[in-house]
Amino acid sequence: MTKITIAIDGYSSTGKSTVAKQLADYLGYVYVDSGAMYRAVTLFAMQNNIISKDHFDIVKLKESLPSIKLKFHKEVGWQKAHIFLNGKDVESKIRTLEVSEFVSPIATIYEVRLKLVAQQQLMGLEKGVVMDGRDIGTVVFPNAELKIFMNASAKERAQRRYKELLDRGDAVAFEDVLKNIEDRDYMDTTREDSPLVKAADAIEIDNSEMNLDDQFHTVLQLAKDRIAGRI
Ligand code: DC
Repeated sequence: MTKITIAIDGYSSTGKSTVAKQLADYLGYVYVDSGAMYRAVTLFAMQNNIISKDHFDIVKLKESLPSIKLKFHKEVGWQKAHIFLNGKDVESKIRTLEVSEFVSPIATIYEVRLKLVAQQQLMGLEKGVVMDGRDIGTVVFPNAELKIFMNASAKERAQRRYKELLDRGDAVAFEDVLKNIEDRDYMDTTREDSPLVKAADAIEIDNSEMNLDDQFHTVLQLAKDRIAGRI
C-alpha cells in the first residue's frame, strides 16, 4: 500500500503525540516526536550552563550544537521510542515543567531549528512517517499528503498536562502549568522563525470536547481516505 507522510501540528498539550503514536502504530508507520528533540537540546543547555532563569548564552548554544547528538531508539516492550542525548536516555528528564519553561526560547534560535529540521527531514525520507510538532506541515514536510492541526482551549490543555505531571509524581501547581501553556502558545506563535501557524491545507481538529477514541477515529478516517486517494 502507498505510504504517505502525516504531519500533526498544533498547540502545546493538545494530545498531538498521543494521536500521532496511535496512528503510526495502526498504520505500521514510524512515529517521530519532534518536540522531544527541542526538549533534549533544552536539557543539554540547562546541564551546560547555557540557559537558566536569568541567563541565556546564545553564542555558547550555537557553538555547542555540533556536539549535541540526538537519536530515537526503541527497545522491545517500550511503548514508544525514547530520545537519547549523546548516548543517554533522557525521555523522562525532558518532560519536566522546568524543561517546558526553557524550551520555547531555545526553539526560537535559527541554528537550532536548522539542525533539527534537517534531521527530521532525513527521518521522513522514506515516507511512512507520522511526525508531530509545530512546523511539520509548514516547514519540515510542506508536501506531506495529510496535515492535521490540533487545537483545544488553554484551560482544557492545562488540565490534561497537570494530570500527567501529577501522575508522574511531579509536585506542580495548576496555575503554573496553565501559565506555562499560555506563555508557550504566545512564544510559539509569535517567534520569527517557523512560528506555529496552521498550514493552508491542514485540517483543523478542536478536541476540547472529544475523548481519545473519537479523536483517534477522526484522524484515522482522514488517513485512510488520504491513502486511498478519496480526499
Ligand atoms: O510538542 P512539545 O510540547 O513537546 O514541544 C516542546 C516545545 O518545542 C514547544 O513549546 C515548541 C518547540 N517545538 C518547536 O518549536 N517545533 C516543533 N516542531 C516541535 C516543538
